[in-house]
Amino acid sequence: MAAQAGDLIYDEQRTPLTLGRLLKSGGAGSVFLIKERPLEVAKLYHSNKGGQVYERKVRAMLELRPDLPDVEDKGVRQVQIAWPTGLLRDKAGGFLGFTMPVLDVAATSDLEHVLQERQAREEGLPTALGPKMTLAANLAVMLAALHERQHYVVDLKPLNVRFYRKSLFIAMLDCDGFSIQGKGERFLSEQVTTDYLAAEFQQRGVVAGEEEAQDRFALAVMVFQLLNSGLHPYSGRPNGATLPSDLPGRIAAHLYPYAQGKGETRILPSPVSGHAAFPAELRDMFDRAFASQARRRPAAAEWSSLLLRYARRSNGLLVKCAKDGAHQHFSGLPCAGCARAELLASSARAAQSRARQTTATGTKAARVPRRTRAATPNVAAALTAATPAPATQPIGLGMRVFFAVVGPVLLGWATTWGMAAYRDYLSDKDPGWWLRLGLGFQSGLLLAAVLLFIVCVPVLILSKRP
Ligand SMILES: Nc1ncnc2c1ncn2[C@@H]1O[C@H](COP(=O)(O)OP(=O)(O)OP(=O)(O)O)[C@@H](O)[C@H]1O
Ligand SMILES: [Mg+2]
Repeated sequence: MAAQAGDLIYDEQRTPLTLGRLLKSGGAGSVFLIKERPLEVAKLYHSNKGGQVYERKVRAMLELRPDLPDVEDKGVRQVQIAWPTGLLRDKAGGFLGFTMPVLDVAATSDLEHVLQERQAREEGLPTALGPKMTLAANLAVMLAALHERQHYVVDLKPLNVRFYRKSLFIAMLDCDGFSIQGKGERFLSEQVTTDYLAAEFQQRGVVAGEEEAQDRFALAVMVFQLLNSGLHPYSGRPNGATLPSDLPGRIAAHLYPYAQGKGETRILPSPVSGHAAFPAELRDMFDRAFASQARRRPAAAEWSSLLLRYARRSNGLLVKCAKDGAHQHFSGLPCAGCARAELLASSARAAQSRARQTTATGTKAARVPRRTRAATPNVAAALTAATPAPATQPIGLGMRVFFAVVGPVLLGWATTWGMAAYRDYLSDKDPGWWLRLGLGFQSGLLLAAVLLFIVCVPVLILSKRP
C-alpha cells in the first residue's frame, strides 16, 4: 500500500518517525516531510521498484559523501546537495527509502530558466555575465566535489540543476539517480539527455567507467550556454553542405563551429554568438572540451579553478559595460551584450523597413534576394517570421478588364466579319460601307493593343517575382 501522511516509518536505530505532508511524488519515489525532523525529508521508493539495489546504492552514498557542506547566506542555511543522511525501514525492518536534508525548493530555480534570456528577465533571474559566471563556477565546484568521490551525475543538463536565486549557490536534488561508486561496486545511472550527450555515447550510451567523460562534456556545454546567452555550442549555420539539423546529430558529427584557428568549415558560428569576446584561455578550454578526442576534455576541477578566478569580483576580470550599465564583459574585450543588442536592433530595423516597403508597393518585400535572406541572423529570422507575406498582384485590375473586353472582340472579328472584309479588301473588291467601317474600327483596336503590348511587356518583365 502506498505510504501516506501519518504513517510510521523507522530509522536505522528503530526510532519511529511520522510522515508529514507529501511534497511530491516522482518516477522513483515520493518525498514527505517528517514531523519529528523539520530539517529532513523522507524519500520512499514506490514498492515495485528494485528495492535491493536501491538499498545497496543508498548505503554506498552514505559511506562516500561528497565534500559539499551546507552554506550560510545571511544567516539562512542553504543545502547544496540533497545527499542521503540515513536509511528508512518499515516496522518489519524492510527497506523503504532514505532521509535527506530538506531543501527550500521555492527559493530555487532551475538553470534552464536562466538560459532563456527573455524568460530570465521576466522572472527576475540573472541576465548579466557576472552572475552567470558565478553560476558556472559554482556548478563546476559542485561537480569537482562529486567527481573527487567518483560519483557522476550523467544526466547532467540545465533542467536538472537548481540554484538559489539570492546567493547563486547550486542545489542538487535527486542524487540517488547519479552513478554512484560503492565499495567494489558501481551503481549506474540510467537516464541520459541527447542534447547534452558526448559524441562517443550518442550511439552506444554511457557505460560504466566512462561517466566522467560524459559529465565533463555536459558541464562544458552548460558553461558555454551560461556565458553565451543560452546558445548551444553545436548550434550554427550550415556552410553549404547538408548537415544534421538536430543537436545530437551535430554532436555525433563533431560539428562545433566556435573553435579558434582554422576550425570547422562545414558549419559557421551563429551570428548572435559572443564567443569572439571570450578570453583566449576560456576559448582554449571550450576547444578542448568539444574536440573530437574525448581525452582532451577539461576536468570539472580545471573548470572550477578557471571560472572562480573570473567570478571573483576583486580580480576585476569582468567589467561593467561603459555603454550599457546592465551589461558586463571580459576586461579588455568588446561587450558581447552590446554587439548582440545591436544585431537584434538592426535585424528589427531591417524587418520594419521590409514591412514598410511591402505596404508601399505591395510587392517590395518579395524583392529581398534569396541569398540575403539566408544570411539573416536567427534572431532576425524570428522577427521577420512575424511579418505577414505580401499579397502579390502581377497584373492590375484595369489591364485585366481591358484584355477581357478586347480579347473576345479580336477573336470574334478574326473568325467572322473582319476576316471576310479583309479578304475582300485584298481582292480589290469593294467591301461596302459597313465592312469598311468594321475594318477601320478593328484597325484602331489592333493599334491600341499593339501599343499596350509594347508598354506592358517591359513593365511586367521588370517587375520582380515573389
Ligand atoms: N531534499 C528535498 N527537499 C525538498 N524537496 C525535495 C527534496 N527532494 C526531492 N524533493 C521534491 O520532490 C520531487 C521529487 O524528488 P526526486 O526527483 O528525488 O524524485 P524521483 O522519484 O527520483 O523523481 P524523478 O522521476 O523525476 O527522478 C522533487 O522534484 C522536489 O520537488
Ligand atoms: Mg529520480
